[in-house]
Amino acid sequence: MTIRDFIEKDFQEIKRTWEEIGWLDPKEDREIFKLFVESSKILVGEVNGEVEASVFNIPGDINYNGIKLPLHAVAAVTTSRIARKRGLAGRMTALSLAREANNGKSIAGLGMFEQGYYNLLGFGTGPYEHELSFDPADLKVPKSTRMPCRLGSKDAEEIHKNRLNRFPKHGAVNLFPPQTTRADLAYKDSGFGLGFRDEETGELTHHFWVSPEDVEHGPYNVIWVVFRENKQFLELLSLLRDLGDQVNLVRLNEPAGVQFQDLLKQPFKRSRISRKGKFEVKNRAVAYWQLRILNLEECIKNTHLPFNEVSFNLELHDPVKEFLPPEENWQGIGGEYHLTIGGESVLKKGLDKSLPTLKASAGAFTRMWMGAVPASGLALTDELSAPEELLAELDKTFLMPKPRIDWDF
Ligand SMILES: CC(C)(COP(=O)(O)OP(=O)(O)OC[C@H]1O[C@@H](n2cnc3c(N)ncnc32)[C@H](O)[C@@H]1OP(=O)(O)O)[C@@H](O)C(=O)NCCC(=O)NCCS
Repeated sequence: MTIRDFIEKDFQEIKRTWEEIGWLDPKEDREIFKLFVESSKILVGEVNGEVEASVFNIPGDINYNGIKLPLHAVAAVTTSRIARKRGLAGRMTALSLAREANNGKSIAGLGMFEQGYYNLLGFGTGPYEHELSFDPADLKVPKSTRMPCRLGSKDAEEIHKNRLNRFPKHGAVNLFPPQTTRADLAYKDSGFGLGFRDEETGELTHHFWVSPEDVEHGPYNVIWVVFRENKQFLELLSLLRDLGDQVNLVRLNEPAGVQFQDLLKQPFKRSRISRKGKFEVKNRAVAYWQLRILNLEECIKNTHLPFNEVSFNLELHDPVKEFLPPEENWQGIGGEYHLTIGGESVLKKGLDKSLPTLKASAGAFTRMWMGAVPASGLALTDELSAPEELLAELDKTFLMPKPRIDWDF
């Protein structure tokens, strides 16, 4: 088995795998696959001269409490039917992490197919995302009188730009290649966008993109809502409400910092009435994305948490090491450190005997550092342990909004 960079001739063999796993319909010549290939740095795994596994990697950034850190997005990991369970996907993903850590990326992220697999590579699960399903006619928002604009594939460039310039909240991810947005727009022929432009400059200022399950009556899945100001968000919701005479159900991921239920009329009654139906009104919570720190020093240097200050030893275990060849320069972030977290944070190598010790896996530490789950909770459910007093201090220190990636990949 050889792991190497993608070359042009691999296109058809990767496509064959994507068809085998049900991501592409062999009958369709989907532009979307070409766009994925164009947007990604790809590693392939060759067995007997043919590509049987691949890992797609996309550059981007992630907002950590107001600071943008370079992100390595692991966008698609696949192994063909004949090459499963030979360790190909694990080793290739680990190698992509090592390469991108060496290329200056601070964090890696992915959408997981199941809990547990990427934990073996040092990833930790993000917080629950709330997917709200509601009747758009039930939205309690002021009526907008402005005329919206239609958006489609032809507007991909400005849609991408608008996404990159949206309001930056903690955890928000940007994927840089414009092909990623073009691929999202190409996902479904019936997809459409609506938005608003600046009346003077004509610039697209806020919009949403919808992928309807049934164009006539819904459900309509809102893939993203992009805005910079609160009033823009309400204006977009007003547009959704105006579709409510015809469309029975809209689904969207709750935006950061908003309790969406506040904007709905009689949510409990609607939920009772629609239970188990095609247009069921509900709020579904699911934690489906994961992150891991690639560069501990950079991440700690950029940690500014002014509410408390805590100093401790860190014994960090990084399981990714098991998947990497010993000659690889980056071997994960495992090791012994002592650090201070607070308004200014500092990381130093080695232990300091005078300090209490936190023991954690790379994934559990990432979860605490991102503010996804408090240290005391991780001590119950994940690979993290420390004396009670230190856990309490860590809980008081990592006070930040729940991270929301706000860009699925
Ligand atoms: C996911 C996928 C890429 C794994 O490919 P692979 O090359 O078979 O993976 P590896 O050989 O590296 O790892 C398989 C091992 O992980 C284990 N594993 C799988 N899911 C796991 C989980 N949730 N938790 C812990 N271990 C898990 C398997 O049991 C197996 O271990 P074993 O060999 O000891 O039985 C492959 O199944 C695939 O292409 N699936 C369809 C596409 C997909 O969902 N991709 C992931 C997108 S995020």
